[in-house]
Amino acid sequence: MEKLQAALARAREKREGGSPSRPAQGQAHTRVKSRQLQRSEALSSVWQGVPAAEPSTRRMQQSRIFAASASAEAASFDILRTKLLLEMRRNDWTRIAVTSATAGSGKTTMACNLIAGLGRQPEVRGMLFDMDFRRPSVAKFFGLSPNSNFADFLEEKVSFEDQALRLDQNTIVCGQSRPVRDPAQLVTRARTAEALDEIQAEYMPDIMLFDLPPVLVSDEARAFLKLMDAAIIVAAAEQSTVSQIDECEREVAGYTNVAGIVLNKCRHLSEGYGYSY
Ligand SMILES: Nc1ncnc2c1ncn2[C@@H]1O[C@H](COP(=O)(O)OP(=O)(O)OP(=O)(O)O)[C@@H](O)[C@H]1O
Ligand SMILES: [Mg+2]
Repeated sequence: MEKLQAALARAREKREGGSPSRPAQGQAHTRVKSRQLQRSEALSSVWQGVPAAEPSTRRMQQSRIFAASASAEAASFDILRTKLLLEMRRNDWTRIAVTSATAGSGKTTMACNLIAGLGRQPEVRGMLFDMDFRRPSVAKFFGLSPNSNFADFLEEKVSFEDQALRLDQNTIVCGQSRPVRDPAQLVTRARTAEALDEIQAEYMPDIMLFDLPPVLVSDEARAFLKLMDAAIIVAAAEQSTVSQIDECEREVAGYTNVAGIVLNKCRHLSEGYGYSY
């Protein structure tokens, strides 16, 4: 919390420095407004402390990340994002895992599109963490080359700002450029849970998205789900079977809330549902 407190003190100083005398009328309302403004300015300055990155537009296209700009391709992700945010507000959720039954159903594509779409919604602050430590791909999907990995931060080798990259004013990505040798050990460490709490307290994101490994083939996904508020299950049409999706949903529900199941790679939708999703 120190960074936020320091930023708050700076914001307060700036504000009070310019207007030494307090207003005599409507003070309570003015003070509340002023505190909200200070808090928002302080938070912005904490987010500005994370280095800005320039993702590769070509790489994003290749990775099917379409949601960074408004388009027909982005429409389905925009709907999903809005529904998710509404559900999150209703339930007071912040941490959302993106998982699946088996590999290759489109988790990373979906998580990257969600965070890219949030870049167009400046009033919402979002973070995406690559927690698929065996097959990390978030940084690759954006064409980013972080100096350090999110796992290095969890292992207390680097600071948060050394590995996090800011895509927009309001979106941050924590990626991995190489696999982690023992992901189960890393995920189950008490320090990992503490680190997530600290990030949440310091940066106060509205949404923390976590790209997870598939539940049915990875032990660490289950361990990690315990730290989540809810999970989205991504199922691939013509690839995931109903029994796999059922089993995955049961597993996930044993550890956290199921926010919903998204059917991806569906070729038989009418045009009104947008490209491919
Ligand atoms: N809607 C879609 N239509 C066509 N191809 C898609 C769609 N969504 C994802 N893909 C492609 O499917 C492949 C797997 O997608 P992705 O890497 O996002 O899945 P994943 O669930 O994260 O996989 P893994 O379990 O290996 O991490 C990628 O080549 C991706 O471009
Ligand atoms: Mg993936």
